[in-house]
Amino acid sequence: MNVRDTLKINKAGHLEIGGKDCVALAARFGTPLYVMDEQYIRAMCRAYSQAIRTDYDGNGLVLYASKAFSCMAIYKIAQQEGIGIDVVSGGELYTACKAGFPADKICLHGNNKLYGELEDAVRCGVGLIVVDAYTELDKLDALCAKYGKKQAVLLRVNPGVEAHTHRFIQTAKTDSKFGFSIADGTAEKITVCALQKKNLLLKGYHCHIGSQIFEKQSFALAAEKMLAFMEVMRRKYSFTASVLNLGGGYGIWYAEGDERQSVSDYTQYLRTVIAAVKEKAEEYEFPKPYLLIEPGRSIVGEAGITLYTVGAIKEIPGVKKYVAVDGGMFENPRYALYQAKYTAVLANRAAEPATERVSIAGKCCESGDIVCADVDLPAAREGDILAVLSTGAYNYSMASNYNRNAVPPVVLVGGGRAEYIVKPQTYEDIVRNDVIPDFLR
Ligand SMILES: Cc1ncc(COP(=O)(O)O)c(C=O)c1O
Repeated sequence: MNVRDTLKINKAGHLEIGGKDCVALAARFGTPLYVMDEQYIRAMCRAYSQAIRTDYDGNGLVLYASKAFSCMAIYKIAQQEGIGIDVVSGGELYTACKAGFPADKICLHGNNKLYGELEDAVRCGVGLIVVDAYTELDKLDALCAKYGKKQAVLLRVNPGVEAHTHRFIQTAKTDSKFGFSIADGTAEKITVCALQKKNLLLKGYHCHIGSQIFEKQSFALAAEKMLAFMEVMRRKYSFTASVLNLGGGYGIWYAEGDERQSVSDYTQYLRTVIAAVKEKAEEYEFPKPYLLIEPGRSIVGEAGITLYTVGAIKEIPGVKKYVAVDGGMFENPRYALYQAKYTAVLANRAAEPATERVSIAGKCCESGDIVCADVDLPAAREGDILAVLSTGAYNYSMASNYNRNAVPPVVLVGGGRAEYIVKPQTYEDIVRNDVIPDFLR
């Protein structure tokens, strides 16, 4: 299967996702609407799991990085696919537990986990906590004593690999709020601290070098550096790490200029990483660690599209044409955050050739409220259904109620079905927690 197979143009000239006509979806569910293809998500989970089975004797686990897209249904799919998950907040943890996700397959992250988040994690028995602060070790140790538990932990390490991606989504360069650096000795220092904690079981290390990275060798290099560090810890402290979590970050196709990936590209990335781990483990005669990876974007990103209705169209002669839609930065803030690129298609006239370059604007009171800049489309008209592709990751999960816009619902398509997995938010939902105190009455 080619990963782009989820999208097709049908006989009516409409865009289809997962066998469902986007124009019909827009008519049935309204717009703006997030649509996710179930088969795509499952295919990606299986491809990664299969690579671990065949290339690493099954000695590892895929953890879906649920910050990319979090709701109860996605945790259910992950559970059915037999993979684990990574969560980064009490809210994600709560959602996963509410969906019945097995706690022992949950890995908790965060550079500043709140006491309550750590307490919830210990109490519900998450499999791993990735520690990213000295005081977190103390808090966790005390919490474990309180609840009579021993908690398995990893330490977040910065291997110092700079991968080519946007500045804000690089996480393992020297200046980062994440992790402890191998180069400056702090990774070693926190290892020593962790080993002294009576109620913590130090299992190994975690690193994540960034997101939207296509260079497979960057991941291999990070793996090599981690193994070398693990070997130093073994020699100096007789600590043999048994778990290595190499994070996520493999890229997806958004727009022209991105490499189109097939499923075999994704498995090849993992194979490259596995080969590096094996080679270094053999070189150091280090027991092969249990391997974790945390793909987020690559599991759900291209599985999703967002459908909009075209509204006002404004041409600034000699400058540009704005096509405004009924969404915006409240449901996709990625252009506003880091000028993310996207591809747009007129879903009701998908077979027509592009004739002009336009920018898709949102409806928010903010000039930077652009959904995607400089996309090629047939001449759009008010009422057209516009699809923005590859919005399955970091769109719904980053949505807000800015300007008191309602967060759009999410529909899952697959097996001939199309059903809500997140229902539409109402204005009543938006004002639910608002209070007018007596002194204002
Ligand atoms: C620790 C960690 N793991 C996994 C991921 C997922 O990355 P991606 O969605 O690019 O695969 C992230 C993303 O920021 C992360 O910070």
